Amino acid sequence: MLAALAAGVLGPAAAHAQPDAFPFGKPAIGKKLYAEKCAACHASMYGGDGSSVFTRADRKIHTAAALLAQVQFCNQRTRAGLSAEDEQSVAAWLDQAYYKLKK
Ligand code: HEC
Repeated sequence: MLAALAAGVLGPAAAHAQPDAFPFGKPAIGKKLYAEKCAACHASMYGGDGSSVFTRADRKIHTAAALLAQVQFCNQRTRAGLSAEDEQSVAAWLDQAYYKLKK
């Protein structure tokens, strides 16, 4: 909801050119953290390796900011224990592997 609202307010420019969305993110670290802390639940709910949650047609994430917010939300809700830097690394990995939001 909030993300949709923000996207509406900020306009199309916000959906592009976000090179610094995850300034502390290291995709290689994020890949490992995601596999350790997050993947099993997605896999049990969505089948396969669980990555279809990121590529489904009605996926919720359309901006880098929304991706980071969702990672933070899942981290808190599931008490995965990721630091702020870890959250950026996971977001950077998910973006690189699935969302490809950054240009
Ligand atoms: C206990 C189960 C569970 C765990 C653990 C979990 N997730 Fe999720 N995750 C979900 C479910 C269920 C959804 C779909 C929510 C929806 O459709 O509203 C989801 C959705 C997401 C999405 C959005 C997908 C999209 O584009 O629509 C992201 C990103 C995500 N999770 C990241 C993470 C990260 C990062 C972690 C680890 C810190 C994590 N999740 C741990 C259950 C989990």
